[in-house]
Amino acid sequence: MRPFDTDTDTDSDNPSEQPHFQTVLAASLKDPSRRQLLRGAIGLAGLGLLSDTLIPFAHAATATNMASGLGFATVQKSLLDAVQLPAGYSYKILHASGDPLNDKVSAFSNQGLELDDWSARIGDQHDGMDIFYIDEKGQYTERDTGRALLVVNHESSAESHLLHPKGQTSNGKQGKKFDQFGAWDLGSRPELEVLKEINLHGVSIVEMIKGPQGWSYRLDSPLNRRVTPQTPMPVTGPHAELKNIHALMMTAFDPKGAMVRGTLNNCGHGKTPWGTYLTCEENWAKYFQITPGAVPLDTKSQASLKRYGVVTAPLNPQSPKAPSQGWHTVSDTDNRFTRWNLAASGASAEQDFRNEANTFGFIVEIDPVTRDAVAAKRVALGRFAHEAAVCGIPKVGEPLAFYMGCDTRNEYIYKFVSTAVWNPQDVGGGMAIGDKYLNEGRLFVAQFKADGTGQWLELTLTDPKVASYAKYAFANQADVLVNARLAADAVGATPMDRPEWGAVNPKNGEIYFSLTNSDAANRNPTKVDAANPRAYTDVDGKKSSGNPNGHIIRFHEQSDRSTAVQFQWDIFLFGAEEDAGSANLSGLTASNSFSSPDGLWFSKATGICWIQTDDGAMTDETNSMMLAAIPGQVGDGGKVTVNNKMMVSGQEQTSQQETFIGAALGEAKLRRFLVCPTGAEVTGVTETADGKTLFVNIQHPGELTPALGDAAEFKFQSTWPGNMGYGAAGRPRSATIVITKDDGGVVGL
Ligand code: FEO
Ligand code: CA
Ligand code: CA
Ligand code: CA
Repeated sequence: MRPFDTDTDTDSDNPSEQPHFQTVLAASLKDPSRRQLLRGAIGLAGLGLLSDTLIPFAHAATATNMASGLGFATVQKSLLDAVQLPAGYSYKILHASGDPLNDKVSAFSNQGLELDDWSARIGDQHDGMDIFYIDEKGQYTERDTGRALLVVNHESSAESHLLHPKGQTSNGKQGKKFDQFGAWDLGSRPELEVLKEINLHGVSIVEMIKGPQGWSYRLDSPLNRRVTPQTPMPVTGPHAELKNIHALMMTAFDPKGAMVRGTLNNCGHGKTPWGTYLTCEENWAKYFQITPGAVPLDTKSQASLKRYGVVTAPLNPQSPKAPSQGWHTVSDTDNRFTRWNLAASGASAEQDFRNEANTFGFIVEIDPVTRDAVAAKRVALGRFAHEAAVCGIPKVGEPLAFYMGCDTRNEYIYKFVSTAVWNPQDVGGGMAIGDKYLNEGRLFVAQFKADGTGQWLELTLTDPKVASYAKYAFANQADVLVNARLAADAVGATPMDRPEWGAVNPKNGEIYFSLTNSDAANRNPTKVDAANPRAYTDVDGKKSSGNPNGHIIRFHEQSDRSTAVQFQWDIFLFGAEEDAGSANLSGLTASNSFSSPDGLWFSKATGICWIQTDDGAMTDETNSMMLAAIPGQVGDGGKVTVNNKMMVSGQEQTSQQETFIGAALGEAKLRRFLVCPTGAEVTGVTETADGKTLFVNIQHPGELTPALGDAAEFKFQSTWPGNMGYGAAGRPRSATIVITKDDGGVVGL
């Protein structure tokens, strides 16, 4: 994801005004039963206890080597164009953007000179990832066999100007644009440039083997492959709604709407208990446009597109600036490029691509170990800006729960609960098992209450609030799933400060979510609530306002049930600079100060909670980073009053907001482990089963490399990883790094 101060993709698409704290509190006090609950919950949480309606968890630990303390020396803040690790740790690169996927493809020049279309190269902008071991028979196993597939998401092409000799071109002009969602005029873009840009998105699957020098990837594996925005896949969903779902996806590619092409903007990820990979489609909305003079879309389509931040109207011919990459401007005979134009140019939806935006925004399941397995869109998990999908601890005989964030300002946190109950014999069953768990179930959205409890609100047409929603007339449950954001508005979900990754604590099943940050337009002292309680101005350097450093919220499902409709929550950590005064609510020091948490993941080997940042607020004093935390549990801290102060339109605004905060961790339990190269974010982390090797992704080093005019040369903000000897020197590249402890020990302890 882009740092908040340079991106446009995270501008709020949510015009609805959900209730904030004072409104919620007032409503609670009018209702005697809720007054009782409120008093009980606040009182008990204030004492660091759980309310008696929320029974402490049954221990379902799967981790074997839970840490009680961290065993490395903290890494100091750094502005170096390098990966910084604690003493006694080393890393090497597994692969970087553009590396060949097989031995027939040329080595990467790192000058933008490749004349292939990148479909046989490692994609760009490495993001979420996971590891899948393969046994002697070539089947999926959870056992460390020294042979595995690494599946990596490739998020976006914000830096795709670095992948052409002199940057992206349009109308024959070079280096015209570098902002991913900046404006193109309506010239036509070169086919090969666009093919590269399309194919560097998606997912890469490569086979790794462990040798004497550690893990490396094989160029000769038949399992190496890509899933790109061009890969055909079926649209799956609840059996009873499948026809209605397909009706929303009819295009000239498949007039029946049963098959669609590709996956896009793959950000966070998930791994299923049966051993498949979930890739999440995040900022797909800004890739489309509608050409000038096109017939306007119908009102309902426009409402839907608007709520998802997709262009809704034909461009003005007098000022034909497009928000997209201009991919649709290449002429074609097979609609490979035309599909990015939502114009209603045909007589019906089956003859054009007016519905193409409906085919993105999903969880896509991939079976990595089966080469010919076809990926599938899982519509039952809803359509939004999907950022990660994490499964709660599976319990035999109970439904599975998947937790998902929608990464845009003021968007929501969702939960999918499967109809099928967990059977461990399903491990290794591939896509057929995915059909079993991911097609039938119930979709919920989170409402965080001021009393420290929360509620899962089901998105269903049987709820009158959904069925009679004034702003959008849902036709059927398929419409609810495909327009989940609108259904979530209807039921009164809580708008959050940009939900990024979720993670599940293997020790107690609690669910954590990064809320990366928000800006002054969306968060100020009069617009806070208990779950998003901070509004302030950063003390120095960038002096950003809103909630510039973000926070991490966590919750505990009632009675530890995947099907719970109530939960208890608190704020695990508030990101802050150590000199942030009253905004530094978690007592951070120079050893563990951080800003804009994004990637979030628990090690099953150690129980460490790894926190990764994608920051634009604290980057005057340090590059983005990764920290290790050893958390306690929801309710281990207490109640706190947040004193907010911020200038809004030249006026100082203040407010006080009560919330619930986790116990301070101190440097013993929260420590900076890695600082990344200049302009990068740290995102995506997984490990070997023994916890001795950690894989981490470094995304978009040199993000702020400027695009210059036709004659000018690039001046790169970063030259990593070429500057440490990996591949051809020159331009910055995203990469997967492999971290080990020099003494062969477990990482982090
Ligand atoms: Fe793709 Fe939300 O970061
Ligand atoms: Ca992210
Ligand atoms: Ca600062
Ligand atoms: Ca500072």
